[in-house]
Amino acid sequence: MQISVYRDYQTLSFQAADRIIEMVGQKPDAVLCLAAGDTPRLTYDTLAERAASENIDFSQCTFVGLDEWVGIPPENEGSCHYFLQKHLFEPVRISSDQIHLFDALTSDPDDECRKMNQLISTLGGIDLMLVGIGMNGHIGFNEPGASPERYAHVVNLDEATQTVGQKYFRQPTVLRQGITLGLKHLLEARKVILIANGAKKAGVIKQTIEGPITPELPATILRMHRNSEVMLDEEAASG
Ligand code: F6R
Repeated sequence: MQISVYRDYQTLSFQAADRIIEMVGQKPDAVLCLAAGDTPRLTYDTLAERAASENIDFSQCTFVGLDEWVGIPPENEGSCHYFLQKHLFEPVRISSDQIHLFDALTSDPDDECRKMNQLISTLGGIDLMLVGIGMNGHIGFNEPGASPERYAHVVNLDEATQTVGQKYFRQPTVLRQGITLGLKHLLEARKVILIANGAKKAGVIKQTIEGPITPELPATILRMHRNSEVMLDEEAASG
């Protein structure tokens, strides 16, 4: 696992966008899985600016969803769907036929997982995953205790995730379950980048890098990946 530390959030975001651009340059039909959340917001703004100014062609790429809150509709501002649409797909001008996100309103979440697993396998796997890290060490919605053997699955959300997740919503929202790609997807992706910024992530980042590799801290699995990178700003690296 490579570790890169940057001066500040702006520099980190520029470099993370650069990794995505580099991947698409090398493989124009790359399969990309990009997280929602606060951390990648500036990465996507930067990506949108550079896509326009440098004429970067994403038209052959495919985007697969990382996770979603079960039961939260795509028009809800707190959903991953809404976030990605607003901060990534619209500004970067990705057409809807290139985007495959989880349907969080499905009456059959297990079937939704099967369909996502099938799609990713048909596409030949994921080329690049860009993920954030939860305060409890989760990746996607792979919560503490998640099995590294699992592909997409439905999960009962950890209390920390239910509480911290409120920050995305205008009103208090019941967040009981998530639907997520599994750690097996992470292990099989050709490249995984974890980004984190801010002092509040310093503790969990220290554990991820220096603590024991354990399912209790799902992000530690990145240390078993042959091509993973943790990109941090100085504050997140301060532990
Ligand atoms: C979001 C996701 C989550 C977040 C994590 C960090 O799609 O998969 O695992 O990456 O909770 O969230 P932020 O970036 O808001 O601190």
